Amino acid sequence: MILYGGGDHGYSLYEILTLLGEPLEGFFDDREEGFLLPKEKYLGSYDPAILPESPVLIAITDNTIRRNLSLRVRHRIGAPLIHPRAYVAPSAILEPGVVVMAGAVIHSQAYIGAHTIINTGAVVEHFVRVGAFTHISPGVVLACRSQVGDSCFIGTGALIVPHVKVGEGAIVGAGSLVLRDVPAFARVWGHPAQPQSPKI
Ligand SMILES: CC(C)(COP(=O)(O)OP(=O)(O)OC[C@H]1O[C@@H](n2cnc3c(N)ncnc32)[C@H](O)[C@@H]1OP(=O)(O)O)[C@@H](O)C(=O)NCCC(=O)NCCS
Repeated sequence: MILYGGGDHGYSLYEILTLLGEPLEGFFDDREEGFLLPKEKYLGSYDPAILPESPVLIAITDNTIRRNLSLRVRHRIGAPLIHPRAYVAPSAILEPGVVVMAGAVIHSQAYIGAHTIINTGAVVEHFVRVGAFTHISPGVVLACRSQVGDSCFIGTGALIVPHVKVGEGAIVGAGSLVLRDVPAFARVWGHPAQPQSPKI
């Protein structure tokens, strides 16, 4: 496996690979320094000609950057990377590029779109749908049959109640209690979550 991104998130993915006994073949990073991954594994900036048969996982937490990099990547995208102490139900469907961190639970018939991050201790209940390029932060609870669109950011510890839909590109602040549908590209937070003005 190759990681694209040698920073904090890359380091976490490297440790998961190590726990699983999967070798890290190397990592791309478009910066030339400031990595946390072992220097001897550095492959340089992204180059489709390097180890072209190896799968790549994009190890960047920013949803927009992750999406943009995915458009450049010509390598095959790696199968979902799941921490050995996460639980993923046999009937859940995870698309390529998904990462699931320690302590996360993904229940029956849940669907997780490509390149989405299910972070530490997050709970994705049964029949939940999560889009692509989304970040479900640590400790989030997505209750049964809730839906989260593509490119959403759900902040640490937020709770989305059953059947509620969070639209594409929406931001839900840390600790929020989301009781009603959130429109696409909205920013909401609070207890209960309320719409906030767009960031200029
Ligand atoms: C929602 C969020 C992205 C908004 O960030 P932002 O646009 O930079 O907002 P600001 O920090 O400028 O805050 C604007 C106001 O909203 C308030 N606010 C921001 N987030 C809030 C939240 N989650 N709950 C309650 N109030 C919040 C701030 O206190 C501030 O209030 P003030 O104007 O009275 O001082 C951010 O606050 C957040 O919740 N981030 C979560 C980070 C996280 O969980 N990361 C996980 C990494 S693994």
